[in-house]
Amino acid sequence: MTRIAFIVGSLRQGSLSRKTAEALIRLIPEGMTGEIVEIGDLPLYNPDLDGDATPQAWTAFRDTMREVDGVVFVTPEYNRSVPASVKNVIDVGSRPYGQSVWAGKPAAIVSLSPGAIGGFGANHHLRQSLVFLDMPTLQQPEAYIGGAGDLFDEAGEVKSDKTQAFLASIMSAFGALMARYPKR
Ligand SMILES: Cc1cc2nc3c(=O)[nH]c(=O)nc-3n(C[C@H](O)[C@H](O)[C@H](O)COP(=O)(O)O)c2cc1C
Repeated sequence: MTRIAFIVGSLRQGSLSRKTAEALIRLIPEGMTGEIVEIGDLPLYNPDLDGDATPQAWTAFRDTMREVDGVVFVTPEYNRSVPASVKNVIDVGSRPYGQSVWAGKPAAIVSLSPGAIGGFGANHHLRQSLVFLDMPTLQQPEAYIGGAGDLFDEAGEVKSDKTQAFLASIMSAFGALMARYPKR
């Protein structure tokens, strides 16, 4: 079974990003499993701590990420970039030097916003890091989800068939991307 980690870039209760990640997990292609890997308890990355005093939360996160085969980032945009929580996990996972959990792992980025631009700035700032981290990243369909405040009903289900089909197309394309890379 191909195991996919979903990183949610919002820590708040009722997060639209979390609802989107849950909707994507429900649409995951056959042969794949999806799980949200929690990032809210990771201390800010500090190289001085990495070694003798590595925080247990960093070690647990790195261990989990080494076990998964691919990563889907589902993130809002904060001030036209990624939330600090997302950048922090990127940094935590990239160290110790030479032991990055990210290298070679296929990824997808889904950004969203209640506004119209759909988190384009966050999506592309994150994409810049993933290039450096050597993660083959889904190119199409691009996933900038605008109007996210109206997407879900009270039960967290996607309201519109069109949106549901778009989310399904993202997961299907990501499944095809995963199939192009050997299981690690
Ligand atoms: C600190 C902060 C900065 C934000 N900056 C942006 C922004 O640059 N672009 C945007 O579209 N929305 C911005 N927003 C609004 C978020 O898109 C909105 O709060 C969204 O619901 C957050 O995602 P969530 O529901 O998953 O928490 C910002 C929100 C916060 C808290």
